Amino acid sequence: MTKKTYYISTPIYYPSSNLHIGHTYCTVMADAMARFKRITGYDVMFLTGTDEHGQKIQKAAIEKGTTPQVYVDKIVEGIKDLWSSMEISYDDFIRTTEPRHIKRVQAMFMKMYEKGDVYKSTYEGWYCTPCEAFWTETQITDGKCPDCGRPVEKAKEAAYFFKLSKYQDRLIELFETNPEFLQPDSRRHEMLNFVKQGLEDLCISRSSFDWGIPVPIEEGHVVYVWLDALSNYITALGYPDDLEKFNKYWPCDVHLVGKEIVRFHSVIWPAMLMSIEVELPKKVLGHGWILMEGGKMSKSKGNVVDPVKLIERYGVDALKYFLLREYTFGQDGIFTNEVMLNRMNFDLANDLGNLVSRTVAMIEKYNNATLPKQNDEEGPDTELKAVATAVAAKVEVHMNKFSFSLALEEIWILIRRTNKYIDETAPWVLAKDEKDKARLDTVLYNLAESIRITSVLIYPFMHTTSQKIREQLGIADQPVLWEDASNFGILGQVTVKKGEAIFPRLDIPKELAALAAMIEGNEESCNQANSTNNAPLTIEEIIANNAPLTIEEIIANKENEATVVPGKPEITIDDFDKIDLKVGRIVSCQKHPKADKLLVSQVRIGRETRQIVSGVAKYYTPEEMTGQKVIVVANLKPINLRGEESKGMILFADNGDRLEFVTTTAADGEGVS
Ligand code: MSP
Repeated sequence: MTKKTYYISTPIYYPSSNLHIGHTYCTVMADAMARFKRITGYDVMFLTGTDEHGQKIQKAAIEKGTTPQVYVDKIVEGIKDLWSSMEISYDDFIRTTEPRHIKRVQAMFMKMYEKGDVYKSTYEGWYCTPCEAFWTETQITDGKCPDCGRPVEKAKEAAYFFKLSKYQDRLIELFETNPEFLQPDSRRHEMLNFVKQGLEDLCISRSSFDWGIPVPIEEGHVVYVWLDALSNYITALGYPDDLEKFNKYWPCDVHLVGKEIVRFHSVIWPAMLMSIEVELPKKVLGHGWILMEGGKMSKSKGNVVDPVKLIERYGVDALKYFLLREYTFGQDGIFTNEVMLNRMNFDLANDLGNLVSRTVAMIEKYNNATLPKQNDEEGPDTELKAVATAVAAKVEVHMNKFSFSLALEEIWILIRRTNKYIDETAPWVLAKDEKDKARLDTVLYNLAESIRITSVLIYPFMHTTSQKIREQLGIADQPVLWEDASNFGILGQVTVKKGEAIFPRLDIPKELAALAAMIEGNEESCNQANSTNNAPLTIEEIIANNAPLTIEEIIANKENEATVVPGKPEITIDDFDKIDLKVGRIVSCQKHPKADKLLVSQVRIGRETRQIVSGVAKYYTPEEMTGQKVIVVANLKPINLRGEESKGMILFADNGDRLEFVTTTAADGEGVS
């Protein structure tokens, strides 16, 4: 049976300088989608590439004293290296300077010309060199480009034009009758209004520079950049002279693009395709931008985040996870080192990493590394199995809406449920008594199964981690099959093998210092921070890690208590029951702007993040607070503390000299009883 096809593209990137974390966002999403489609049975075509012509590149090459070709070759090499270190699974990489692209763009130009859609005239307008965009008088504000805000220059020259205006009505019809064509909806409304205001014909050639594809009908003109760039989506498939791949994969299922180039993809590109009588892509999806706290990432602001350095330090899967989990598709999001490190520590090192190492360590210790057989189902087994086998279908629903973050959230619900299962079943207690062996076997089996399912579910997002988990489970040589994620009870008597921690725990304050030093180029302090990494845990420590005390242990400890601690007057259980205690995570913290003793924390409790003010500045810095898992009195009446609202109270143990965090291994959002 032939497989269904799925064609996904990223924009082709300008090789004008090295790509930053914002550029990698789109490619990482496309890669996750391509891998998801492949594992769910599609024949995938994933295309990316580079957009190498234009005045800006020519200028940059001249400034460097080299030719544009030599200049772009070097940068494109770096871009390909970046994609290779990010393990991007593209099927083709198209460069607009390749002969296959050049000849096909010329053929497209001729088709449009022969159709009567191209004519020669004089171009007069405002030109923004960095954006390579012409603007009309009404579009510019105060002599500045409406896209990037930089100054524009007056330009006048003989040029060829494409009759974009001819396609205005068909474009309006497209937006009105096919809401799926452009998403999110907000962008569709924006584009519909834009088209309704009237379209001007589009300049598609230039004669004032020569770094471009020669116009086939007149020497001295080169194809102007958007016809050259947009057509990559079909020239890479062989259109119009080698139609095998084109017939197989076109129309494209989705062009994934940043919000600022939605206009080119949803208005100009469809009009060009209408002109050459080629079917339109099925969907254009506009994603938001990753911004820095001070706005856009830019070299001049010195706030560019280099993905290569993050990969070297934290690994590619941690970075991919962060990008896919943290940002909501279609919306802008802010990048901070703090948020990134918190995600890596809590979701990856604690939730996932710990689960894998504890489980494998327990199978090694309690059953000589052989996965035991499962016995009768009891207690929380039924719920664990139900949660585990339902995730794949939920992930599919979210992925088909490009909701990467929600898809990962579903997977983490399983991971957290499995961690809770360890707490509920307390295997270290079962291991103490031979009569509990059958139950212990079942618990260990269920844990391993849950982790196996997780290894399948995370595959599209973090395939290397998936493989590392499967190595520890002793199933590295078995194919990763999506359908296996919905079946519980597949594992046989495999032999597990503890490996390196899949995500080592990060010391956040030290990492923040190291990242700051990286930006300042202060390698020495960066290395100092490097050298303080935690030593690996022993098997006993791993098992003990997160293991709460059992009732018996608590009772035993009570016997050692010397005196009854004096305290407040007695309350009833009903009094206690009024207090809503919740597990929270401090995701960021800062000094109170008006009170030296106070710190203002943002605390994540499940899906909610709330602000809590605490009088602990004497004991903790904001950096030390950030990342702590805490117990919060969640139903305390909100108050305003010197201008800052406080919704709840963080609990601390008071030993007279110092306040210690009251903490837990439970997931944030869980109740405390
Ligand atoms: N060459 C054109 C695209 C032609 S497609 C036929 C171009 N190149 S670009 O290198 O400037 O941008 C490529 C993509 O990177 C765009 O989709 C843009 O939105 C994206 N990003 C650049 N900075 C970004 C962020 N900070 N955040 C997210 N994506 C951003 O435009």
